[in-house]
Amino acid sequence: MNNNTNEKNRHYQLASDLTIHRIVNGMWQVAGGHGYIDHELAIEDMMKYHEASFTSWDMADIYGPAEDLIGQFRRRLCEIKGKAELDRIQALTKWVPQPEKITYPIVKEKIQKSLNRMGVDSLDLLQFHWWDYNNPYYIDALKYLSSLRDEGIIKHIGLTNFDTDRMRLIVDSGLEFVTNQIQYSIIDRRPEVKMMSFCKEHNIKLLAYGSLCGGLISERYLRRTQQPSATDLDTLSLRKYKKMIDMWGGWSLFQELLSTLDEIAQKYNVNIANVATRYILEKPAVAGVIVGVRLGISEHRNSNAQVFNFSLDKSDYDAIDTVHTKSNNLFDMVGDCGDEYR
Ligand SMILES: NC(=O)c1ccc[n+]([C@@H]2O[C@H](COP(=O)([O-])OP(=O)(O)OC[C@H]3O[C@@H](n4cnc5c(N)ncnc54)[C@H](OP(=O)(O)O)[C@@H]3O)[C@@H](O)[C@H]2O)c1
Repeated sequence: MNNNTNEKNRHYQLASDLTIHRIVNGMWQVAGGHGYIDHELAIEDMMKYHEASFTSWDMADIYGPAEDLIGQFRRRLCEIKGKAELDRIQALTKWVPQPEKITYPIVKEKIQKSLNRMGVDSLDLLQFHWWDYNNPYYIDALKYLSSLRDEGIIKHIGLTNFDTDRMRLIVDSGLEFVTNQIQYSIIDRRPEVKMMSFCKEHNIKLLAYGSLCGGLISERYLRRTQQPSATDLDTLSLRKYKKMIDMWGGWSLFQELLSTLDEIAQKYNVNIANVATRYILEKPAVAGVIVGVRLGISEHRNSNAQVFNFSLDKSDYDAIDTVHTKSNNLFDMVGDCGDEYR
């Protein structure tokens, strides 16, 4: 692949005024449960991601200091490189309210708080989460968010962890959104059951998370015949996705998958995480994969840049899918995307 193709391949235009890097830096990892985050080291690391062209960030109002870190990072970048450099950043956040009566002043106040923390005049993408479908106020919330979008305070509305049926209901209500952020990995392919075709039909894009299962889909766990112990699983993310692997088919089937991914990785001179990321990026309707970053603790920038230097072929897909056919059906067990939270 030449450099030109590589560059084009790295970005995705979600809207006329919003183009993201296809690997988005995920900031749940600064919210606690992923090791101690030193804020000064975190900002230095954010600079390095930016320099390496990883300019898209995913955060939430509930991810501890994530929105404040973006604000501090923007101020630092502006001091060093000037205001124009800030236009290269895409900061995607979420609003995760309690399921209660939602009014316009509540929405306005919450969004204003995120604007203040992030040091921006408008949010690039506000992704909305709702815990309880039995509480109908999510439609009101989306109407008020749409008003804020019309006022220019939010550029685009996205959803997170909504199932296909509710996406349809929202579309049928005449409310517009550009993305749904959901768990999507080689292990968890629930989006392929219903959501993907709906997204294609309505030009809605998916932002995938959990695609590396918190780091379990990597060489670190290859050929480990023994399951990792509770102390090995030292982040919330590892614990969350280990449960998913157990439901999917267990540790020995997971080892079979890692061996298959390893063979493919060696063929392209990349690593297992690269193959797992590429696999999801090549799926229809997927705009980007959000890869968690433990700022100031660990980094995989050079490795993740390799994702744009190769493509998977049919034999790779077949090999991965052969392992997958031996797994349990997560859609039947858990439900559609997001049902794991409800
Ligand atoms: N909407 C939601 O409900 C929701 C839920 C979960 C996550 N998310 C979003 O998705 C983001 C992703 O988080 P996640 O928990 O799903 O984790 P993930 O992206 O599946 O895993 C991240 C971990 O993978 C490892 N890794 C990354 N690149 C690698 C490479 N090239 N080679 C080997 N290992 C690599 C790193 O582990 P080490 O640091 O140990 O090296 C990193 O911490 C979150 O930050 C958040 O923004 C959203």
